[in-house]
Amino acid sequence: MKNINCIKGTFDILPETSEIWREVESAVHDFMYVHGFGEIRTPAFEKTELFVRGIGDTTDIVNKEMYTWTDTDKAGTQLTLKPELTAPVVRSYIQHNLAGKNPIHRLYYIDSLFRRERPQKGRQRQFNQFGVEAIGSPFPEQDAEVISMAYQFFVSMGIEDLTVKINTIGSQDARQEYLKLLKEKLQPHAEELCETCQDRLHRNPLRLFDCKNPNCQALLDQYAPMISDNVSDEDSEHFETVLNLLDQLSIPYIHDKKMVRGLDYYTRTTFEITSTSLGAQDALCGGGRYDKLVETLGGKPTPAVGFAAGFERLLIALSSIKESEPEGINVYIVLLGEKAIPKGMVIADELRRTKGISVLVETLRRSMKAQMREANRSKAQYVIIIGEQEVESDLAQVKNMESGEQFDVALDQLAEYFSVDEDHHH
Ligand code: HAM
Repeated sequence: MKNINCIKGTFDILPETSEIWREVESAVHDFMYVHGFGEIRTPAFEKTELFVRGIGDTTDIVNKEMYTWTDTDKAGTQLTLKPELTAPVVRSYIQHNLAGKNPIHRLYYIDSLFRRERPQKGRQRQFNQFGVEAIGSPFPEQDAEVISMAYQFFVSMGIEDLTVKINTIGSQDARQEYLKLLKEKLQPHAEELCETCQDRLHRNPLRLFDCKNPNCQALLDQYAPMISDNVSDEDSEHFETVLNLLDQLSIPYIHDKKMVRGLDYYTRTTFEITSTSLGAQDALCGGGRYDKLVETLGGKPTPAVGFAAGFERLLIALSSIKESEPEGINVYIVLLGEKAIPKGMVIADELRRTKGISVLVETLRRSMKAQMREANRSKAQYVIIIGEQEVESDLAQVKNMESGEQFDVALDQLAEYFSVDEDHHH
């Protein structure tokens, strides 16, 4: 029979790797705590409509990357595994009337997302993000705080070669004028564009900037007016203040005039942070302001800004700078003979429960030699040996694996022995 493997673009995380995941997750929680952000968790699937309306129906995500199915309810509701979290967070914000409870909400998440993309290094079909959404403030200091958080988190993890790319795509009012201009300028060269871009030119010309085709990019360089040169004075002022605050926070950035981001909800500030250690998929995170999304999804007009960072990409960047050494355990209990088994299990239980130390207990009935080898492999600090003889005499042999010292301890004294501090252990 053929083995059943996990789906292309999805991965198992085995114990050797899950340790670094937990480390980074706990760093995220600590980081968010000192910034006063509270964790939000939303369901794995939502109505398809949420993403169509939220992300935009001309985006790659909505057009070709969503895992969508028809529910078996009477209405045949269309459901989708979440491909991103900004729309669900805003849905939740509206649903629970958070606006009525406080004028500002600072939320963060760690979660799994699903996009049917072509899998490659740093790009999966199920992937994980952590991110923040600050909902309520229209002011540039909120943009600056969010960008600074993304940047400082990566710095705190020891990632170097960071580039912050930032742009403004203006408010949606100014956008229509610009899109008209962009269309006008590129229409004469429409036939030189790739097929997708020809379609983009009609349906949503801003998406032209997402194209990876070098020929399309060259045409944009040559003919496209840049959106940040075509925003309102208020938009420009907002952008200047964000940049100014970043300067004061000593965050280096480049103004990347072609960065528009692949989701339709953005207004004004957009940004990405890239790292050279990543290869083709070099974005560690992406985000920006989305002042119209709450309204688009049926809430009262509420400005907001946020970002999300790819967990797997962060781990790729970390793997090039950090060897992760799996942690050892405190005690390995070597058992010899059947009578030793219940004794060993009771002791293991007591040590774990009352002393909170990590204990491995033999369950394979191996030879002494094989069990000692296993204890070494699991980097045990101490080994407790219980054999038939030890059961008879109510004693166990304890071996300090570092010093090699070995001594007898009464079985009913073991818990107490391991509760005293290191130096007491001879
Ligand atoms: P995004 O740019 O689609 O933005 O995703 C953010 C980050 O998630 C990317 O920079 C990348 O690190 C990671 N990522 C995206 N797709 C994949 C994938 N297929 N495999 C691995 N990693 C991936 C958003 O999702 C927005 N919701 C961000 C945001 C929050 N904007 C405002 N608030």
